[in-house]
Amino acid sequence: MKFFVDTADVDAIKELNDLGMVDGVTTNPSLILKAGRDITEVTREICELVDGPVSAEVVAEKAEDMIREGKILAKIADNIAVKVPLTWDGLKACRALSDEGHMVNVTLCFSPAQAILAAKAGATFISPFIGRLDDIHLDGIDLIADIREIYDNYGYETQILAASIRTVNHIIEVGKIGTDVITAPPAVIKSMVKHVLTDKGLEQFNADWAKTGQKIG
Ligand code: E4P
Repeated sequence: MKFFVDTADVDAIKELNDLGMVDGVTTNPSLILKAGRDITEVTREICELVDGPVSAEVVAEKAEDMIREGKILAKIADNIAVKVPLTWDGLKACRALSDEGHMVNVTLCFSPAQAILAAKAGATFISPFIGRLDDIHLDGIDLIADIREIYDNYGYETQILAASIRTVNHIIEVGKIGTDVITAPPAVIKSMVKHVLTDKGLEQFNADWAKTGQKIG
C-alpha cells in the first residue's frame, strides 16, 4: 500500500518522510489555506522533499483554464500530479494533460460511474472520497470496493487513491480491498501506531525492569 500524506504542512511531511513512510503528497485549496503559504512556494518545497507524486489542484472551472493552470503547476517540478475535479470539464483537462505526459489526479469522486470516466480519460489517479460519503451516511468503503472490482475487470491502469480518510479503520478496510494508494492526514497515519495493549505491555515491562535495579550500559 502506498502512503500519500494529505497536507501542505512541510514539517509534518518531513517527519514522516524521514521515516521513509511518504510515497507522495496530496494538497487541495483548503489545505493550502490551512498552511497559510503561497501555493507555488509551498508546493516547490514539498516536491524537493518528496520523491513521489505531489498533487497540486487547479481552481478554474472551464477545461481550457484548467489546462492552462495545470501546465503552470506542472512546471513547479517533475513530480507534480495535476489535480482536476470530476466534472466534464475536468475530464477534458485530464485527457489533454495526460496526453501531454503529465500525471493527473482526478479528485472529488463519489461514484463508480465517475471513476470509470476518469480511467477512460487517462487519469493516473482517481481519488474517491471516503469520509465525505460517510458524513452523509453512505458507505465510502463500498465505493472503493466497487471501483477496485470494475478497474480489475477491465485492466484499467488508473491507480485508486483512497482519499478523505479520517480513521485508522478506513486505512485497514481499503487495504483489505486492495486500494493502490491511501492519502491521509499526518495525524491519522501517526495514530496507526497506537494500541492499548502496547501501552499496557510497556507499562508492565517498565515496572518490572525498575524492580530488577539493573541498567543497560
Ligand atoms: C484528497 O486528495 C483530499 O485532499 C482529501 O483527502 C480530502 O479530505 P477531507 O474530506 O477530509 O477534506
